Amino acid sequence: MVRFDPPAPEAGVTARRLGAGDAAGYRELRLEGLAGHPEAFGASWEDEAARPLAWFAERLERNALFGGWVGGGVDLTGVAGLLVPDAPKLSHKGVLWGMYVRPSARRTGLAAALLARVLEHARGVVEEVRLTVVSSNAAAVRLYEAAGFETYGVERRALKVAGRYHDETLMALRFDTPDRAGGPPLGKG
Ligand SMILES: CC(C)(COP(=O)(O)OP(=O)(O)OC[C@H]1O[C@@H](n2cnc3c(N)ncnc32)[C@H](O)[C@@H]1OP(=O)(O)O)[C@@H](O)C(=O)NCCC(=O)NCCS
Repeated sequence: MVRFDPPAPEAGVTARRLGAGDAAGYRELRLEGLAGHPEAFGASWEDEAARPLAWFAERLERNALFGGWVGGGVDLTGVAGLLVPDAPKLSHKGVLWGMYVRPSARRTGLAAALLARVLEHARGVVEEVRLTVVSSNAAAVRLYEAAGFETYGVERRALKVAGRYHDETLMALRFDTPDRAGGPPLGKG
């Protein structure tokens, strides 16, 4: 099992959980990410651009999303979230999703700080975090590997964007948890 000790945030980088009051900044940043990097997300700009501000506020209220800023700026410049399935048989696994850092804030340590906040939160609510990343996305893959994520599979042609296929790498980070192998056997189906 992998143990991840989050790095100390770099100077000038702050990250915190977002709430409904952050909806306007989150909407702008999210749509910028979807428009600029359609191959990096399963969601599409066309779907979310049509949503009202209240839809983004509700997403922030219902989900654990973390936002980040650099250099004391007021504009939200990065975001990442953790999704935990409601279904009892799946709720031990969280999904890291929606990771986006504005180009002006890249290579600042903000992405690692956001990831550290998500994992800090995840450690208290799930046993393992999974994610999917387009295999050609070198910066994201390196970011996740540095945090301890390991590749457990590749889905060929996972996304089709503007007629082009993209493979996705499936990654997981398991937290130290008590051995549950002694639990009752699972029935079939
Ligand atoms: C993915 C993303 C959040 C990473 O943030 P970043 O600030 O660009 O990356 P970092 O500076 O933290 O770099 C992470 C690692 O990748 C490396 N890296 C950064 N840019 C790179 C590039 N273009 N090519 C190759 N490696 C790169 C860094 O050197 C670092 O590796 P190291 O720790 O071994 O030095 C950001 O690029 C982004 O928002 N991209 C668009 C959306 C996206 O792809 N989201 C991920 C969806 S799964």
